[in-house]
Amino acid sequence: MSHDLFEAARGAMAFAHAPYSKFPVGAAIRAEDGKVYTGANIENLSFPQGWCAEPTAISAMIMGGAKKIVEIAVIAEKLALCPPCGGCRQKISEFASKGTKIYLCDETGVKKTMTMDELLPFSFETELG
Ligand code: THU
Repeated sequence: MSHDLFEAARGAMAFAHAPYSKFPVGAAIRAEDGKVYTGANIENLSFPQGWCAEPTAISAMIMGGAKKIVEIAVIAEKLALCPPCGGCRQKISEFASKGTKIYLCDETGVKKTMTMDELLPFSFETELG
């Protein structure tokens, strides 16, 4: 099942707008509604103002009416494995559980599978959420 998510992430990477970093990234989320939501990184001339592939996919999921990340795949064509950046770990965590699977992919498929808790251990937690 994770292979279809890898293919969705790889397909999404083709939509990256990354003329400044030249580092396209793709992400694909399977949500609790069974649907797959995808995203790519989107940069702009004020380079730090751009955003990552993961929040693009999260935005698609939220606007599609879903709330829960069941599993997520991430791919960057220039890295054998692209671990989500620190900010993305927190963003994914907002909609994930400790056991949510994160698939790190290369151009051929899933190369490493991690849980949310492994990706963001000892995470910020309060009684608010
Ligand atoms: N990037 C992502 O899309 N996801 C990550 O988890 C790491 C970094 C993007 C941001 C920027 O457009 C490019 O990769 C180079 O940092």
